[in-house]
Amino acid sequence: MVQQTAILNPATGVLTGDIVESTCLLGSMEGLFEDEETRKAMPAETVLYKVQVHAPDADAEGGLFFGTSFINPGLVGEEYFMTKGHYHNKRDTAEYYWCVSGQGLLLLMDEAGVATWQEMTPGVLCYIPRRSAHRLVNTGDGVLTIGACWPSDAGHDYGSIKEKGFGIRVKKVDGKPKVMKS
Ligand code: F6R
Ligand code: MN
Repeated sequence: MVQQTAILNPATGVLTGDIVESTCLLGSMEGLFEDEETRKAMPAETVLYKVQVHAPDADAEGGLFFGTSFINPGLVGEEYFMTKGHYHNKRDTAEYYWCVSGQGLLLLMDEAGVATWQEMTPGVLCYIPRRSAHRLVNTGDGVLTIGACWPSDAGHDYGSIKEKGFGIRVKKVDGKPKVMKS
């Protein structure tokens, strides 16, 4: 029997207890932002986002992971801070994202490369269909906090996004977020 040993603060999304934490630094985002020159000129240790995951049943078929992502506000050139983005290795796995706080966009892309997006404001629950790549973009001034729940055997395929891109980018134009083809 798996023991429930994590605590969720529903107001902040913060998880404590039996969790794994990771941090994504700007230095690990080579080739993902349009303005690679500017990215390289910024401090590599700039924290883009942190992820907390409660992973009680790692890799088990039929298990679930539960996590919270905290994406910092900021820009690389004109492009908002965002997550790496991924398909799931096991393509036939879906995921739920919900917005705890902040302002942002969830970018989605199917396997044919057709991309779309969904606004993420507090309370919005988004079902990410199977076979869809997903990436979070923080378009606000504060931290974008997103809860997530996904199958524990889904895995992450970052390589396809790095190779082929995401189809759309989100930039700050005249002070406002604008989604554009990339
Ligand atoms: C899990 C999931 C999220 C992301 C997190 C960071 O399948 O979608 O927990 O892993 O938001 O984004 P990536 O993994 O794209 O760096
Ligand atoms: Mn995912």
